[in-house]
Amino acid sequence: TSEPNVLIEKRGRVTLLTLNRPHALNALNEATMNDLVAAATAADADPEVGAVVITGSAKAFAAGADIKEMAAKDYMEMYSSDWFRNWENLTRLRIPMIAAVSGFALGGGCELAMMCDFIIAGDNAKFGQPEINLGVLPGMGGSQRLTRAVGKAKAMDMILTGRMMNAEEAERSGLVARIVPADDVVEEAVQAAEVIASKSKPVAMIAKEAVNAAFETGLVQGVLFERRLFHSVFATEDQKEGMAAFVDKRTPEFKNR
Ligand code: HXC
Repeated sequence: TSEPNVLIEKRGRVTLLTLNRPHALNALNEATMNDLVAAATAADADPEVGAVVITGSAKAFAAGADIKEMAAKDYMEMYSSDWFRNWENLTRLRIPMIAAVSGFALGGGCELAMMCDFIIAGDNAKFGQPEINLGVLPGMGGSQRLTRAVGKAKAMDMILTGRMMNAEEAERSGLVARIVPADDVVEEAVQAAEVIASKSKPVAMIAKEAVNAAFETGLVQGVLFERRLFHSVFATEDQKEGMAAFVDKRTPEFKNR
C-alpha cells in the first residue's frame, strides 16, 4: 500500500506522530519503527519543535512488534541484524516525548509507550507484555522499564502470566501519568506537549536528563548531578528571562537560548 506507516503532523510547536497500520492494530514492523524513529529524530533536531506526541488509533496504540514479520526468523538473523537496535535510538533523543495511549499497548507497543517520557492513557487503555504467550519475552526494554515503573510484583505478574492491566490499574501502579476519556487522549496529550513546548527547550531537555539520571545512579550521585545541571542553567538567557518575568509579573518569553 502507499499509505505511510507514520503520519507526521505539526501542531504549532508540537509534532504529533500517529502510527498508521490500523489493519494490523499498528503492529510495529521494522519499516514502521524506522519511520517513527526518523520522524522523532527530526523533531528533536528542529528548534521550532518543543515536544513530541506519539499515538496510535482508537482501538490500538500498538499491539506489539509485528509477529508475522518475526515468526520465521532464526537466531543468526536476529543477532546479525541486532533486531530492535534502532528502536533504542528513541530513548537517546532529548526532546520531551509523550505517549497518548488508546486501546491496546501490548508487547513492543507497551515498550514503545514506556520509552516515552510519560504516558497519558484513555480510560479504554490496556497494557500488557504478552510475549510469554508466543514463547518469547519482552525484547525492547519491557522487563527493565516495566519493573522500574510498577515494581517487581506487578512486573513479574504481567510478564509471567501475560495478563493485561487496564488504565486504572496502570495509573495506580505508576505506569501512567494521567487517565482521560478515550476520545480526548490525543487532545490532552497535545495540550500537555504544548505546555512543555512553551517552556525553554534546552531547559526542558536538561530537566528530562535530570529525571532520567534517577534510573541510572544512586541518590547521592543523582542529587549532585542535578545540582550541577541546576548551576548550568544559570548560563542560559532563558533563566534570566524566566526569573525577570516572575518579578515583573508577566509571562516569560523563552528564546531557547
Ligand atoms: C502482527 C498483528 C499483531 C501483531 C494484531 N495483529 N496484533 N499482526 N503482529 N503483534 C493483526 C491480526 O493478525 C489481525 O490481522 C489484525 O491485526 C486484527 O487483530 P485481531 O487479533 O483480529 O483483533 P482482536 O480479535 O480484536 O484482538 C486484539 C488483540 C490481538 C488482543 C490485540 O490482536 C492480539 O493478541 N495481538 C497480539 C498481541 C501480542 O502478542 N503482542 C506481542 C507481540 S510480540 P488479520 O490479517 O488476521 O486481520 C512483541 C515482542 C516485543 O511485541 C519484543 C520487542 C519489541
